[in-house]
Amino acid sequence: SAAEKGGWSSFMAKEISEEPDAIANTLLGRVHDGTVSLSELDPLGADTLAGIERIIVIACGTAAYAGMLGAYAIEKWARVPVDVQLSHEFRYREPVIGDRTLVVSISQSGETMDTLMAVKYAREAGARTLSICNTQGATIPRESDAVLYTHAGPEVAVASTKAFVAQVTALYLLGLQLASIRGSLSPELIAEQVAELAAVPAKLSEVLQSGETISQLARWMADTRSVLFLGRHVGYPVALEGALKLKELAYIHAEGFAAGELKHGPIALIEPGQIVFVVVPSPRDPLSLHPKVVSNIQEIRARGARVIAIAEEGDAAVLPYADEVIRIPLAAPLFEPLLSVVPLHIFGMELAAAKGLDVDQPRNLAKSVTVE
Ligand code: G6P
Repeated sequence: SAAEKGGWSSFMAKEISEEPDAIANTLLGRVHDGTVSLSELDPLGADTLAGIERIIVIACGTAAYAGMLGAYAIEKWARVPVDVQLSHEFRYREPVIGDRTLVVSISQSGETMDTLMAVKYAREAGARTLSICNTQGATIPRESDAVLYTHAGPEVAVASTKAFVAQVTALYLLGLQLASIRGSLSPELIAEQVAELAAVPAKLSEVLQSGETISQLARWMADTRSVLFLGRHVGYPVALEGALKLKELAYIHAEGFAAGELKHGPIALIEPGQIVFVVVPSPRDPLSLHPKVVSNIQEIRARGARVIAIAEEGDAAVLPYADEVIRIPLAAPLFEPLLSVVPLHIFGMELAAAKGLDVDQPRNLAKSVTVE
């Protein structure tokens, strides 16, 4: 009903507006004075967590992209190898798992059958299981050794938005907790990451202010038939998420690519007028990926692509090559995705709306898929 939507045109619009709160509420009570404390992990035991040799993240859809972002952070901070596998593929490769493997499932609903079956398989194979879930008392957390709840609040729109940023937040907290248990990051570095994380909700509220620019872009593109998304490092899962949203909501053929992969194939797709979103890393990025991505932009622009760059405030290097620039506030590299993904959530929604589609209930999809 209109009242449930709180004055918004759709549940999705309301849920996007709640993305800053989803992050803030997921942090609430779990960070204090620059430290992370997740008592939810107690059932796993600190000794077990200290001895984990491998983490496998299992999830489907948007949750799997959140998992990819978590993998970058957890590997960097906790120095544990992390793989992300789609739940429905996991069992069939006879995964190498044992009691020093932590299997982290991610599911907004906690009822996705593919993910549930993967968790059961992991448990039977002797792995430790942790569920990251947004729904209290759902089946997947009940089948897991421990659960870290995301506090995004109920998500109604089929396409996941606020649950995604809450999942990334929970994974980052897990990474920092593991880093603290395993001594792989100094308390000072942990405090720095905690401060970055705590600063995200306010920055995200700023990003939401630029929503009207994105809506306008979406209206101009209402009859577009194909959109590509490029990103590198943590921008790569953001590109995948942007493409998924367009497929789900606007029924547009969309693909996300790792920007470095462009020259190995996808650049053949570029023809005059092709719209390409590029998630641009910060020019301050210590990994120095910024010039590489700017050169990707030059390459596709030279072949006639129309480029929409998502770039940090003040990044002037993209201006000569981009047709449009969507600005995000300054953040450390691992935290940029929590800001850059939101314009893509808005874009998917607005393009669907511009086509007159039902953004909350896209055709052929269900909010939670309880069959294999
Ligand atoms: C369905 C939804 C997606 C969602 C996926 C995983 O396919 O349409 O939006 O990302 O399920 O759902 P879960 O509840 O497990 O996060």
